[in-house]
Amino acid sequence: MKSRVLSGVQPTGNLHIGNYLGAIKNWVRIQHDYESIFCIVDLHAITVYQPPEELRSKILEIAGLFIASGIDPKHSAMVVQSTVHGHAELSWLLTCVTPIGWLERMTQYKAKSQAQETIGDGLLQYPVLMAADILIYQAGIVPVGDDQAQHLELARDIAQRFNSLYGDTFVMPATSLPLVGARVMGLDDPTKKMSKSAAGAGHAVALLDEPGVIRKKIMRATTDSQPAVDFAHLGEGVVNLLSIFQGFSGWSQSRMEAHFAGMRYGDLKKQVAEMVVSHLEPLQQRYREITSDPAYLAGVLREGAERVSPIADATVRLVKQRMGLYTP
Ligand code: TRP
Repeated sequence: MKSRVLSGVQPTGNLHIGNYLGAIKNWVRIQHDYESIFCIVDLHAITVYQPPEELRSKILEIAGLFIASGIDPKHSAMVVQSTVHGHAELSWLLTCVTPIGWLERMTQYKAKSQAQETIGDGLLQYPVLMAADILIYQAGIVPVGDDQAQHLELARDIAQRFNSLYGDTFVMPATSLPLVGARVMGLDDPTKKMSKSAAGAGHAVALLDEPGVIRKKIMRATTDSQPAVDFAHLGEGVVNLLSIFQGFSGWSQSRMEAHFAGMRYGDLKKQVAEMVVSHLEPLQQRYREITSDPAYLAGVLREGAERVSPIADATVRLVKQRMGLYTP
């Protein structure tokens, strides 16, 4: 049996080239080697207030962008989290075996709760729901960025605690993050990872940005005080631009060095911008085709939920039995 891979994306903000090069591109590459489930985690999104109409359209946008990026919905189940009821149900069952102290320690909770006037309980529960997403499918591999490593570790701790209280029930997800690609940094600040939630118009290139906008953002990217590319002294901003180029082109390191050594930053940026535009234009074209037929996307998401629901239902039933709940 192929091992099961699961990952999740929140339907908030704009998917950008950092998401593409760091995650989506790898999922596309490995999807056929595994039984893959891609989850659009709308229940996670509402842990901070989302305007309902925006959330509704973001869910479909993410689904469309995944398919446009090469996720094959015939092979990989694409699922909207809230449509598979077991996620919320298992989350409650796991909440009851999770010490509050474990949750209060999470760095993402601490950061996010500082930004809120009132802290919703859901923000604290966020990692329990993520553990439920993973454990409900007994997923062995969870490709996430290192910012999610602590949440993944917590999912293992919860699984272990459940197993020791109620007997072996959950498969332990691997802690290693073997499928993570390039780490793309912010164009405006190459010391920070490119983020969907960061403000700043020049921070990220969104997958749906117009070519003119893409060029403008890349031409304005932060570099350093040198005039040209010097591989012996690469500043963070230049490393970032080169790795974006390399991520899209697939060029080897030696080819990169032969081509870019000594190139002035203005020319480097032009070439990076053209490389990005040449990859995003066809992606955007596919996206427009996919989303021009709303019935198609609705069908993909319905079929994804139908495919994974039996697995989810079986896990929830087993967990209830183990805990002594009534399971007629
Ligand atoms: N917390 C993840 C993020 O913000 C999203 C997520 C939710 C997830 N559930 C998941 C990722 C399950 C992997 C597996 O990126």
